Amino acid sequence: MQFHHVLITGASAGLGAALAVESAGPGITLHLSARDAARLEQTAIACRAKGARALPVCLDVRDEAGMAAWIAGVGQLDLVIANAGIGSGTGDAFESDAAARAIFDTNVTGVLNTALPAIAAMAQQTARADGLRGRIAVIASLAAFVAGPTAPAYCASKSAVQRWAEARDATERKRGIRLHAICPGFIRTAITDRNEFPMPGLMQPELAARLTLAGIGAGRLRVAYPWPIYAMSRIVGALPPGLRNRLLMRLPAKKAE
Ligand SMILES: NC(=O)c1ccc[n+]([C@@H]2O[C@H](COP(=O)([O-])OP(=O)(O)OC[C@H]3O[C@@H](n4cnc5c(N)ncnc54)[C@H](OP(=O)(O)O)[C@@H]3O)[C@@H](O)[C@H]2O)c1
Repeated sequence: MQFHHVLITGASAGLGAALAVESAGPGITLHLSARDAARLEQTAIACRAKGARALPVCLDVRDEAGMAAWIAGVGQLDLVIANAGIGSGTGDAFESDAAARAIFDTNVTGVLNTALPAIAAMAQQTARADGLRGRIAVIASLAAFVAGPTAPAYCASKSAVQRWAEARDATERKRGIRLHAICPGFIRTAITDRNEFPMPGLMQPELAARLTLAGIGAGRLRVAYPWPIYAMSRIVGALPPGLRNRLLMRLPAKKAE
């Protein structure tokens, strides 16, 4: 399925940039945001090279009013992807208070600052031939299924948005709006570049973008990949919490920011 009017946050790098380029083509309009204007323009250039109309905007997802004004003003929206996110871990000590707050501000509040105005805008749109007014995809993570003691705020933030998107979909679909919780495993981006431990199933952002868009196009509420790591995350997530913490604390931790 091709989406003609797409909005993506965090499009200056990594998965967001790959989602933009994968979505691009003749007749496609892409509204792209991030904070780094130069890197965002590089994504826009790559999208234009594929024939798309790319409209980059320098915007922080934590800016509630700015996000609301941008999303309300772009016109038709077929697909909105709340992708912008940050990560941090405990390193060999503790998760800092600042890191925990920053992660929740970007990964949870930033997602709401994207998805809520998108829902409001889509509710005013006419339903298309497939009966839908629009789709909103929230980039969570397989970390949503494990309360990992080496990345407490990151796992909790991803769990929050995965559960919110899946639950909200049940009521929004009654008025023709679908939500999707995207739960990728490890992707080779700036977030994982500083990990000094083996990352099973590590994939390139281009493959993650293709799997994400295919899952959304197929109408899947939860798009989780790769499946062996998804299965493992569900098993580890189901362990008794004390046992899970003891086991996971033996693994190397993600570096602190
Ligand atoms: N990499 C993985 O293994 C993995 C796995 C599962 C899920 N994810 C999720 O995938 C999403 C994309 O991450 P990535 O791996 O592609 O990391 P990345 O390469 O670091 O990209 C993060 C993107 O988010 C943007 N961003 C960060 N804070 C922002 C803010 N306050 N306002 C606006 N934009 C902001 C960054 O742009 P600027 O710095 O220019 O603002 C950048 O474009 C995140 O939600 C992440 O949690 C990643």
